[in-house]
Amino acid sequence: MSHVMNTYARQPVAFVRGQGVWLWDEAGRKYLDALAGIAVNTLGHNHPRLVRALTEQIGRIMHSSNLFQMPLQEQAADRLAQITGLDEVFFCNSGLEANEAAIKVARKYGHDRGVAEPAIIVMEKAFHGRSLATLSATGNRKVQAGFEPLVSGFVRVPFNDAESVRQVAEHDRSVVAVLVEPIQGEGGINMSSMQYLRELRELCSRHRWLLMVDEVQCGLGRTGKWFVYQHAGIRPDVVLLAKGLASGVPIGACLAGGPAAEVFQPGTHGSTFGGNPLACAAALATLQAIENEGLIANALRVGEILLDGLHRALDARPGIVEVRGHGLMIGVELDRPCGDLVGQALEAGLLINVTMDKVVRLLPPLVMNEAEAHAVLAILVPLVLKFIERPALAARA
Ligand SMILES: Cc1ncc(COP(=O)(O)O)c(C=O)c1O
Repeated sequence: MSHVMNTYARQPVAFVRGQGVWLWDEAGRKYLDALAGIAVNTLGHNHPRLVRALTEQIGRIMHSSNLFQMPLQEQAADRLAQITGLDEVFFCNSGLEANEAAIKVARKYGHDRGVAEPAIIVMEKAFHGRSLATLSATGNRKVQAGFEPLVSGFVRVPFNDAESVRQVAEHDRSVVAVLVEPIQGEGGINMSSMQYLRELRELCSRHRWLLMVDEVQCGLGRTGKWFVYQHAGIRPDVVLLAKGLASGVPIGACLAGGPAAEVFQPGTHGSTFGGNPLACAAALATLQAIENEGLIANALRVGEILLDGLHRALDARPGIVEVRGHGLMIGVELDRPCGDLVGQALEAGLLINVTMDKVVRLLPPLVMNEAEAHAVLAILVPLVLKFIERPALAARA
């Protein structure tokens, strides 16, 4: 009997080695990774620049404390400020911690302005994490069920609908911020329109709310720009990162600009591990590799091959609701639960995921090349076609 707590329904495979977009299991079988540890392994596996940076850093110092100066944290913050256009970074260890920090920034920002019970507008189908505050911000009853009472102070509205935010603005004086994923990941690869993001920016500026953008899953080059909000030409007040930022080393970041950057002072927030030298060395190496190796343009190019192939093979087929995505963040929505496809793909040597029961999700490493994208299609498309045909055959029989 396993002594690991039973929080995941795991696939029956253990990976012991990786190289680029390839993984090997204990028996030496090879798999194509189109999931990247759910958008974590930005540089794939065993990337030489990352391995070198980490090995060197481990030999020097892994951890000191935020009680002391942190030169690597300063460097990582400088780089993140440059690419986001924001001013300051709070480092933590995960996506939920980044969101938790943002929720605290918003509440304190509200209190500093005299709002006694500050509220944050959040979206249907959103996912922000599994701490009490972040699961309360999450728009999925499955994530919340059993953990009530939920944390108060969230107002939920439909995603990608600026009008509903406008309506809240008219009657609710307690709102201080909007928290949104520009592309919802766990929620099923749901895309917001760029017009929606611009309207949110405009509404937040008009009402002096903070626009807080959760790019934990969609950010860091995956869609052909560093961040999805940059496609809309806006600058949020708060940006949340984690997952792919250090290519596999745990890290999270809450970035703040303008008035949001002035909210936290010594003593208001903290983290023992947050931004330690090991994590920051990994983040710096990841950011440098993304830039030096042209991985943002690669993500767009290779993503288009995947999207194109999926559209051609699956659009307008009975059983397929929609193929959607941007760059290397792709969803194929079916009209029925399709969790079985994960095991079938694994059997065929491909790692994918299914979210919201019906959405096949691809989040490949940014180093995937064109031939590897074609290899993904060569495995995935026949599996999906077979899957959507099978129940129909059963119904006819
Ligand atoms: C958009 C988004 N925010 C936050 C989180 C939570 O991140 P973590 O699992 O690192 O706490 C996730 C995780 O899937 C996510 O996709």
